[in-house]
Amino acid sequence: MKKILTGLLIAAGTLTFLAGCSSSSSSAKADQTKDSTAAESKVDNSSALQDIKDSGELVLGTAADFAPFEFPDGDGQTTGTDIEIAQAIADDLGVKLKIMDLSFDNLLSSLQAGKLDIVLSGVSATEERAKSVDFSQAYFTPTQEILVKKDNAAAFQKATDLTDKNLGAQKGSLQEDIANEQFSDSKIVSVPLTTNLIVQLKSGGLDAVIMESAVAQSYVNANDDLVISDIEIPADPNESYAAALPKNCGDLKTEVDDVIKKLMDDETIDQWIAKYTALADEQAATE
Ligand code: ARG
Repeated sequence: MKKILTGLLIAAGTLTFLAGCSSSSSSAKADQTKDSTAAESKVDNSSALQDIKDSGELVLGTAADFAPFEFPDGDGQTTGTDIEIAQAIADDLGVKLKIMDLSFDNLLSSLQAGKLDIVLSGVSATEERAKSVDFSQAYFTPTQEILVKKDNAAAFQKATDLTDKNLGAQKGSLQEDIANEQFSDSKIVSVPLTTNLIVQLKSGGLDAVIMESAVAQSYVNANDDLVISDIEIPADPNESYAAALPKNCGDLKTEVDDVIKKLMDDETIDQWIAKYTALADEQAATE
């Protein structure tokens, strides 16, 4: 009995010791990261939802060069899957939707500056971006693709085939980072508009363009001289699309998550992607 008790006491002592160690080391860690996160945790946007309701308007930022998510329809209005999602959120909040078409690389900074209420623009919810904005739940997971001219498809089959070649990516996009990290032997060309990447690819100014699946497919449908190459890019688990919201926006995030979850559960988002891919194809055919 005595032995057992001593054993238990030693075990308890060891546990206390271990617990002590782990809590002290985690607080040391917390101290180290305190400085970098202090500024972000101080940002208070908890009135965001109420402010939107008071103003009667949800101001959406998007870069309309990205069918089927956002692109100009035949009448110059911005349309697409992300616009539908934003409209559903505005309807849920009982406010009007106001669309601001900006350059992709200005969207998140404009959100942070308080000029936008929400960004829906095929934005990949990366860890880096999550330091400065909040992300809703994800609504689409693309793969990364390399677009080339049909005539060059046989010559570009693996990453090393792009050594010293001009590889285009949208400025400020995740694809620009991937290009720099995974295709460092290529000449990386950053271009603000996706539409201009395609123009340059078709004219031969670029040899290849890195782009996400649904959008790349939409361009291939619309341009019979382009194809998605066999070059593979490993997928990143953080690259799903999500709505970007002001940091620490509290119940605005809850509300947006609810709307997106419903649209995912009943497959409405998939239907919109199909619908707007078809619409973009039709438009390209009549151009
Ligand atoms: N998903 C990529 C990113 O977040 C590209 C998004 C580009 N969106 C656009 N509307 N052009 O960086």
